[in-house]
Amino acid sequence: MKKVKLLTVALIAVLMAGMVACKTKTKEMITSEAFGTFDGKEVLLYTLTNKAGNVIKLTNYGAAIVQINVPDRNGVKENVTFGYDTFGGYAGGDLYFGKVVGQYANRIAKGKFTVDGVEYSLALNNGPNSLHGGPTGWHSRAWDAEVLKGTDYPAIRFTYNKPDMEEGFPGNLVAEVVYTWTDENEIIMDYKVTTDRNTVLNITNHAYFNLHGAGNGDILDHEALIRASSFTPVDSTLIPTGEIRPVEGTPFDFRTPHLIGERISMDYDQLVLGGGYDHNFVLDNVEPVDAEVYDPSTGRLLEVITDQPGVQLYTGNFLDGTQTGVGGKVYNYRSGFCLETQHFPDSPNQPAFPSVILTPEEPFLSSTVYRFSIR
Ligand code: GAL
Repeated sequence: MKKVKLLTVALIAVLMAGMVACKTKTKEMITSEAFGTFDGKEVLLYTLTNKAGNVIKLTNYGAAIVQINVPDRNGVKENVTFGYDTFGGYAGGDLYFGKVVGQYANRIAKGKFTVDGVEYSLALNNGPNSLHGGPTGWHSRAWDAEVLKGTDYPAIRFTYNKPDMEEGFPGNLVAEVVYTWTDENEIIMDYKVTTDRNTVLNITNHAYFNLHGAGNGDILDHEALIRASSFTPVDSTLIPTGEIRPVEGTPFDFRTPHLIGERISMDYDQLVLGGGYDHNFVLDNVEPVDAEVYDPSTGRLLEVITDQPGVQLYTGNFLDGTQTGVGGKVYNYRSGFCLETQHFPDSPNQPAFPSVILTPEEPFLSSTVYRFSIR
């Protein structure tokens, strides 16, 4: 009897030790702190640490990436993405830094589109067009957050329940993004979106990067490679004309590496219209890695892997030094680039572009990876 009791006690002790160990492990990998409140919802700042000791920070406000701290070739760690130290920074600052953008990332011409014969109208928040899901799109919402348990790497799921007709888009949607921070310094973003009626969807992450460290000069000396044989030219309001133009022989040919600044000031119609690069590239989707940006001075390399058909290369042409972010760093003109994996802009009005119709029958599932390393 005594022996059985002893064994039971020992077993309970082992189980409890295991639970404590598990708890400690999770705790070490993800911590959270109060960041603010929005619409009656708690906004938290999450710190995710991988086994390499590298840290990213996320918030449920806009399901945003706030910081990415990765080493250069000398082991010096620096934050390489745009974000703010405080929630106040987000409340009064740039709308899109690191955010998840929906229900329609990028532009819809004149804010109008038709689904099942019904025309829908959106707020015009970018000249004559609708941009990034409208003024109160998904970037400006406090998402629900769940720290995932039992995963190999620190991971958080953010969920936004979008009511029917919010910002003019039909459908009650459930949008989820799971961020995973692997020991190989990869941010994996797994998206899942469902709807209860036919609608349009284009979802992306709008992180800005500077591989010198965010706020340390411009990105014109970064070397970019984009595995895209064509791109979608735009009009003066940055709406695609419908043309799919081969990159061959143009300053948009990044199939071999080129410095971002090498051709950006050329007198080429699309660079003039875009004020630099602000275009959707039609990905070849044949190699595992779809795009890379390398900073020769620090050795930092960003690789982008996606199953989306396009990527917007945006070279921070609208940045103007009015934003002060993490660590008091100022974000000047062209001091950051974005690689927003996406469907093509204005697809609802472009029958030749891949369809962006989301139906109740088939959830939208997609993954994009931002992988950081040294070369
Ligand atoms: C990008 C877009 C740019 C600009 C930016 C936000 O996705 O391509 O034109 O609107 O967002 O400032």
